[in-house]
Parts: sequence; structure tokens; C-alpha cells
Amino acid sequence: MPGTVIVGAQWGDEGKGKIVDLLAEHADVVIRFQGGNNAGHTIVHGGETWKFHLIPSGILYPGKTCVIGNGVVVDPKVLTGEIDGLRNRGVDVSGLKLSANAHLIMPYHLLLDHAGEARLGKNLIGTTKRGIGPAYADKAARLGIRVQDMLDERILKKKIAAALEPKRAMLRPFAKEIDLQAMTEEYLTYGHRLEQHIADGAALAWRALENGRGVLFEGAQGAMLDIDHGTYPFVTSSNPVAGAACVGAGVGPKDIDEIWGITKAYVTRVGAGPFPTELHDETGEQIRQRGGEFGTTTGRPRRTGWLDLVALRYAAKLNSLTALAVTKLDVLSGFDRIKVCTSYRGSKDDDYVASDFPYHQSVLHHAVGEYEELEGWQEDISACQSEAELPQAARDYLAFVEEHTGVPVVLVGVGPGRDQVIWTSRAAEATTLPAAA
Ligand code: GDP
Ligand code: IMO
Ligand code: MG
Repeated sequence: MPGTVIVGAQWGDEGKGKIVDLLAEHADVVIRFQGGNNAGHTIVHGGETWKFHLIPSGILYPGKTCVIGNGVVVDPKVLTGEIDGLRNRGVDVSGLKLSANAHLIMPYHLLLDHAGEARLGKNLIGTTKRGIGPAYADKAARLGIRVQDMLDERILKKKIAAALEPKRAMLRPFAKEIDLQAMTEEYLTYGHRLEQHIADGAALAWRALENGRGVLFEGAQGAMLDIDHGTYPFVTSSNPVAGAACVGAGVGPKDIDEIWGITKAYVTRVGAGPFPTELHDETGEQIRQRGGEFGTTTGRPRRTGWLDLVALRYAAKLNSLTALAVTKLDVLSGFDRIKVCTSYRGSKDDDYVASDFPYHQSVLHHAVGEYEELEGWQEDISACQSEAELPQAARDYLAFVEEHTGVPVVLVGVGPGRDQVIWTSRAAEATTLPAAA
């Protein structure tokens, strides 16, 4: 490989977990580099379904080192629960490593996330309410508590007290729920439980890369939820773009060889914010039902829409994508015609037409998709194993995506299972992965 980044090229839930699981066979180390348990990554294999929120999606392969990188915000209650859940299902989690420098989500971050959304009222962001934003805010304010702090009672208590101090007014309604001593003891217990997994995450990546071993960098969320480049303020509080893989894992850009963007064959979004190709009609509902578009983390129905090539081109640029994996192509079977957005126009200003993603929030919020219509296909493609088996219209669809993004489609998903993928003829050239040869 050696250094391959997997990122979401839309608004999250593109199928990153499935692709990471598939590629992990060829890697020694899999590292999650940002986000927290706002993520929900699904793997379907051997008739079983797995949902990961914090643990990297390579854990199902015994012997792989799976690192929760320094860029992740970790809720240790969720992590210990996830470890227990895997152990109960017979999964060997001895390869799990937790970066000592990763920041912790504290109980007060959850309270603040809830309170922040309540305060915004109808303008709410629709966060997952997992405390992600407040935890990253504390990290930036240098008031964060890190994984390593759970190993020392004195330091832990002092840091929690310091972090609580400036939040007094905001936390006053929850005064009864905040007990410094109890919180310190709870987190010491997590520290004790997780101690065997705590490590220098970056050093694990360096060692593998020095030895020419494959390292997979697993992103969460997607480019359009990026705090810098996404649809701010309707974004998450980290950078899900490829550049953050370096920061959140502790390697330099020269260690990255391939950058794969994962995109669905259509678009979904959970939470509020602009979505230029959103469908509010029967077609949108059909996509939701056929695609099972309900959140992995919160169970919320996902908003649905046609593929947005303006946003996808933008994601290709933001990430320097070297390859695209198009998932859920099977969900589009049965439509007579399929629409694809190739530019935006203003819903208010008739003169506004753009094929580039608008940087101005007011423009974006009124942008709606302009479409080209492609031929649909009726066949069930979920058992197809090669490009040749796909209906011509499905192949044309993929060619259209490549033409409009300039990025080769190397992998196509035709179902949730690990085996329900098709390597395209472009893969051999676009990636060095053994599976593509
Ligand atoms: P992630 O957050 O990017 O890992 O994606 P999620 O796991 O939240 O959502 C993707 C959903 O689509 C999961 O339920 C997957 O099992 C499913 N999935 C992934 N790839 C495919 C595919 O090619 N076809 C179908 N039908 N489902 C898929
Ligand atoms: P994966 O990794 C889809 C969305 C939330 C909300 C916004 C901010 O499974 O693709 P946050 O809790 O992060 O402060 O919420 O981001 N969001 C996701 N949407 N997939 C995800 O992760 C998401 N993680 C956060 O719905 O709109
Ligand atoms: Mg998800």
C-alpha cells in the first residue's frame, strides 16, 4: 500500500467502514485519525453485522494493530462498552491501541452539547449529542483532558477542576450532575481498564511505514462536514479531510501514497444544513427505504438526494483524491431515469449558475441542483462480481462520475457484504493494492 487514506467524500455514512474492512486485509496498521463516537461504521461479514463508533474498522482481522489516533476525541465509557461488546462476540481486541495524546470526552461535554443544541432552537445543527464539539473546543482552549491523564489521580483531578472552572455559569443548571470526585474516580477506573491499550500511536505508524508495511488511515464523517471546508456551521468539529490524517495520526504528508474518497451513488445527510440535491418527494423516500438510510449512531432517518458532482469535485480537490469507491450502486436499481447534479443554480437569484462549490454561505444556502438525466437500469446487481456483469447503464453511470470528477472509480459497492464489491479495470493502474491487481 503503504500509506492509504480512506475519507468520506460527502456528508458521512458513505460506507467507509466497509471499505476499510475490505482493505485492512492488506494493512498491518489501521488508524482512526479524527472524530469520535459521532461516527458509526458498519461492516457486514459472514452473515453478521458490526457497528464501530471508535474502534478502527480493521479489528475483525486478528493480529492487526488498530490505533485510535491522537486526533480522535474518545468517550472512554463508549470505548470500554465497545470493547466489551466485541469480546462478547469472540473478537480478539489485543491489537487495539489508544493514543495517549487523544483527548477525552467528559460528562460535561455531553451536557454542553445538549444545552448548545437546545439554545439554538430551530437553528440547531442536529449534532449527534455525543459531546464532540465541546471536547474539541476544550482541546483548542488547552483545557482538554487526555487519555494519559486517566492514569494519574492527582493530575486528572486538577485538570478536571481547571476545565470546569470557566464553564461554571454554563453548567449551573446541571450542578447536581457534576461531582468532581465522582468524575475523577469514574475516569480513573476507565484508565485502569484501558491501560493495557494505551500507547504512542504515532510511533506505531512510523514503525510500520519504516518497514514498508501497509497503514490505513480511517476517516470519519466526510469532506462536506469539515469544520474548515464544509457547510459551516452545519459541520462537525474536526477535519475529516485527508490532510488531517497526518495531524491526527502523527505522520507527515510524504507517508501518504493513496487517498481514496468514498461516495455513495447518491447523497445522504443527517442533521441540519444545506443540501442542494435533496429530494423531498417519493423518489427521496424510495432511496431512503431501499438504501436503509437510517443513522448507525442515532437511528435518525437520513435526508436523501441525487448524486451531487459539484460537491464531489470539491471533495476531490480538498482531499487530492487518487481513487474513488462508489458504494450502494445497487440501491439505484429500478429507477427508469437517474438524475445527476452537474452544476448549481440559485433558487432566489435566477442569474446564479455555478459548477464550482460556492464558498459564500448565503449563496450555498439558496443553491439547488441542475441535473443531467441518465438512463436507469432495472436489474438487481447485488450479485455482480465484475464490471462486465453490470448493466451497460450502470457502467455508463460510473463513467459519467469519472468524467466529471477526473478521479478513477476503482471499487464499486453492490451490497453491504464484504464480498459485494467490484474492482474496476482502472484499479490496477490507480492503486498498488494487491487486491486490485
Ligand atoms: P460509514 O459511516 O461511512 O462507515 O457508513 P455507515 O456504516 O454509517 O453507512 C453505510 C451503510 O451502507 C451501512 O449500513 C453499510 O452496511 C451499507 N453499505 C455499504 N456499502 C454498501 C453497498 O455497496 N450497498 C449497500 N446496499 N449497502 C452498503
Ligand atoms: P460517519 O463516520 C454522518 C453530523 C451530525 C451533524 C453534524 C455535527 O458515520 O460517517 P457532531 O455530533 O459531530 O457535532 O454533529 O455532523 N455527523 C455525521 N453525519 N455520519 C457521521 O459519521 C457523522 N458524524 C457527525 O449528524 O449534522
Ligand atoms: Mg456512519
